[in-house]
Amino acid sequence: MFDDLRTFLQMLEDRGELVRVKEPIHDGHEIFSILWRLTEISGPAVIFEDVAGYDIPVVSNIFGTLDRFALACGFPEGKNAKGYRDLFLECLDTKKWTDPKIVKDGPCKEIVIKGDDVDLNRLPILKWHPDDGGPYTTMPIVITEDDKFGVNASIYRMMTHDKNSTGMMCNIFQDQGIYLNRARTKGMDSIPCAVAIGTDPSLYVGAVTKIPLTANELAFSAALRGGRPVDVVKCETNDLYVPASAEIILEGEISTGEVKQEGPYGEWMGYFEEEMLLPVFTVKCITHRKDPLYLMTIEGPEMGDAEILRMIPQMTTFTQQAMSQITGCKDAWLPPAGRNYTAVISVKKRYPGWGKVAAYQAIALPFVASSANCVIVVDDDVDPSSLDEVVWSLSTRVDPDKDVIITQPMGGYVLNPAGSRRDREFSDTGATDIVMRSIMAIDATLQMEMEGRSRPSATVVGPKKEMFDKVLANWKKYGFE
Ligand SMILES: Cc1cc2nc3c(=O)[nH]c(=O)nc-3n(C[C@H](O)[C@H](O)[C@H](O)COP(=O)(O)O)c2cc1C
Repeated sequence: MFDDLRTFLQMLEDRGELVRVKEPIHDGHEIFSILWRLTEISGPAVIFEDVAGYDIPVVSNIFGTLDRFALACGFPEGKNAKGYRDLFLECLDTKKWTDPKIVKDGPCKEIVIKGDDVDLNRLPILKWHPDDGGPYTTMPIVITEDDKFGVNASIYRMMTHDKNSTGMMCNIFQDQGIYLNRARTKGMDSIPCAVAIGTDPSLYVGAVTKIPLTANELAFSAALRGGRPVDVVKCETNDLYVPASAEIILEGEISTGEVKQEGPYGEWMGYFEEEMLLPVFTVKCITHRKDPLYLMTIEGPEMGDAEILRMIPQMTTFTQQAMSQITGCKDAWLPPAGRNYTAVISVKKRYPGWGKVAAYQAIALPFVASSANCVIVVDDDVDPSSLDEVVWSLSTRVDPDKDVIITQPMGGYVLNPAGSRRDREFSDTGATDIVMRSIMAIDATLQMEMEGRSRPSATVVGPKKEMFDKVLANWKKYGFE
């Protein structure tokens, strides 16, 4: 459990998992390249203390290993992704959540800058890659409120347009896109918004978790803080509440009508995404600590900082959906290499055609319908988290002519490099684009009789259970250790 970002960094430093770079840093691309290499070697978190043109240090790679992710969540170290997914499932129990606690003041208010003095260029928000469309805030916890659904906290990328405005990549598949659409239909010009940069890392984990629309991610984060509530303080210029111990807060409003071109941006699927029109966030006030730290990340590598941050939370939400909505579902998994676009589920097949029923049910899961491109259904003797076992299943249990379902094209989450068409029909209302793509579902379960098979069902090789148990019971007697 951590009070703020700096207590987490201190703990990492004490463990030898934080490096302070004192060497002058010339630009964002230098930082991007260092972080890319740190990912390749599962390297430490880092503070760039001397970034040219700025007196605010840049912090990154805080979630760079599964163990650091675990520390941020208060979990024991040394487990694999599946182990953390199972621990995370327990935290989704709302009995473990606690509402944020309102406090009068907090370190995030040590400096208050309002009106014309607001200048985002004073923060080290850099163009992290030369091919990005502009400088990006990549680790914002974006807080908004809706009169029906309550407070929402999520992470959405923000490209700086000028000294007091940015883009906001909230789209119709995300809660804030829904809030914005509701405000628009009610005739509101904008919605209040606050952005926290650099908080206790458990708040980031909460913000990236897909919990129900009505739930507050800051309340969920308390489950990762041993039940301790998040202290929040009221904004200077609107009625939103922000984490009191944050390094930096941006207060302002998101327009329901004004959109601006933003991108391209190197995204988490490992590709640059093309430009798009996004709602504009106007910053009216910046508050920060006296000596703030600026937290950022880069996207792209399979096991990078940002990818590790989103992996377990999103895998857990998907597992919860699959277990509750697919009949006979035994387990579910999103292979990290598939960046959440490939979903694997295992089922206990009880009658012919069950694998296909499960495939259709999987296509209808909110997580799959909104973003995945590929679903694989395997039998319950296959571990969905083992790519080797899944490939074995695909190779030996699939007759493509009968076992592959391909849907009609449908609208999905915009960041989908595989989708062949991007639709802009929503752009004039300020919401983001959608991508048209189909979903392929593969029934990789063993075929039963009555599934069009004119020969006996394939039988898996292995000793009979009775004999194998007997052999194990006598193992030492044979002279083996
Ligand atoms: C570093 C990082 C950046 C992210 N950027 C975006 C983004 O720009 N747009 C988006 O829709 N989701 C983005 N996400 C994923 C969302 O934060 C995540 O899906 C979250 O659950 C959305 O919250 P919501 O369901 O409350 O909308 C990002 C995640 C991470 C870890």
